[in-house]
Amino acid sequence: MPADTITITDNRTGKTYEVPVSDGAIRATDLRQIRVSEDDFGLLSYDPAFLNTASTRSGITEIDGDRGILRYRGYPIEQLAEHSTFLETAYLLVFGELPTATELAAWTDEITVHTFLHENTKRLMEGFRYDAHPMGMLISVVAALSTFYPEAKNVEDPDNRLLQVKRLIAKVPTIAAFTYRHSLGVPYVYPDNELGFAANFLSMMFRMAEPKYRPEPALVHALEVLFILHADHEQNCSTSAMRSIGSSLVNPYCALAGAAAALFGPLHGGANEAVLRMLERIGSVERVPEFIESVKRGEGRLMGFGHRVYKNYDPRARIIKQATDEVLAVTGRNPLLDVAVELERIALEDEYFVSRQLYPNVDFYSGIIYRALGLPVEMFPVMFAIPRTAGWLAQWREMLEDPEQKIARPRQLYVGSGVRDYVPLGSR
Ligand code: CMC
Repeated sequence: MPADTITITDNRTGKTYEVPVSDGAIRATDLRQIRVSEDDFGLLSYDPAFLNTASTRSGITEIDGDRGILRYRGYPIEQLAEHSTFLETAYLLVFGELPTATELAAWTDEITVHTFLHENTKRLMEGFRYDAHPMGMLISVVAALSTFYPEAKNVEDPDNRLLQVKRLIAKVPTIAAFTYRHSLGVPYVYPDNELGFAANFLSMMFRMAEPKYRPEPALVHALEVLFILHADHEQNCSTSAMRSIGSSLVNPYCALAGAAAALFGPLHGGANEAVLRMLERIGSVERVPEFIESVKRGEGRLMGFGHRVYKNYDPRARIIKQATDEVLAVTGRNPLLDVAVELERIALEDEYFVSRQLYPNVDFYSGIIYRALGLPVEMFPVMFAIPRTAGWLAQWREMLEDPEQKIARPRQLYVGSGVRDYVPLGSR
């Protein structure tokens, strides 16, 4: 019997089946041959929330949650955070290799020429209420871009796909900055294409009357690092949404709007907003032990802690902590950092958190950086969506180019009522 197989005995029938094991997995469809009768549909695997189901073979991002490892295309996240830029990392995610100097210059130019939005997009945004949540605006406007680029529906044309990838990576920061300006009620600032990716974003966010915005280099660097760290994270909730929606062959703007909607939730990209609200609620270092006890009594979660995949320190959290120090050196110390540091210290020693392998995740410190930049919490998931756009699109392209992928369509175990006759309204 080949070593790379597994033998399954069905105790209901006494039959045995040999199922191949490849890359540490069996194919769920191989279970379908296991039946109790001719008209049996075949054995299904039941996996709510996909705790143990691989939905794709991917060559983009590798995570080893037990060892706290994160790599894009094989490159450790620590090396990329130290040496790369966001646009170079985006190229790596999309194309699979680091660019040569010529390729990087061409890629940077191609992204830069797409940073402007159609003026109608701006008018659309002006129609939102003054207090509209920026993430709701971002999601809507990204979907609306599909109406400006109707040819984007030709998702099976590789050149067309790539054009939309460039457009989205370029335009999402502009939309993001416009949502912020909208919330302040100040004029939207057009892109400054003489600036780099992060510097231009800061200019669109913060420039007021000055003819040329000159961002603080330490802030530009911290933002580039944050963007690199958030660029991809394999098959998380929003990326699965991107792939799942994209598998219907809808245009990438609508698929990405769906992915951004998934990111908005408090258990995903909304977590850094929840972290900051939590830190503000705790308020001071003295109140940290009392808060930890309330979490242990089940009265709420320690936001920014725990991860479905990392059962060790999230490597991104370590790098962000460093970036936080760099930013606070420029913007001034924030007392919330003291609360965060104390929370982390106690939680890392406490049996409740240790036994459940709960460590700080990427969102634990990112909110402190965003707050130091003066951003309201509503902008935090928007800040996450900017770099994640590159990851969503890399994963979307990979999905479309994978001959094994089809429209995503999970099965269910029906547990509802059996057949019954309709009862007229007057007789119920
Ligand atoms: N605080 C307190 N207890 C927790 C926490 C937490 N943050 N996270 C998990 N637990 C407990 C949970 O109560 C459960 O305990 P018990 O076994 O006694 O019932 C155990 O740990 C396992 O939790 P789970 O909910 O089964 O774990 P999960 O893998 O489904 O959840 C998670 C992962 C990230 C949703 C969860 O850890 C969480 O809610 N964390 C807080 C929110 C957060 O920081 N999210 C950001 C995730 S990283 C950014 C991103 O990729 O989106």
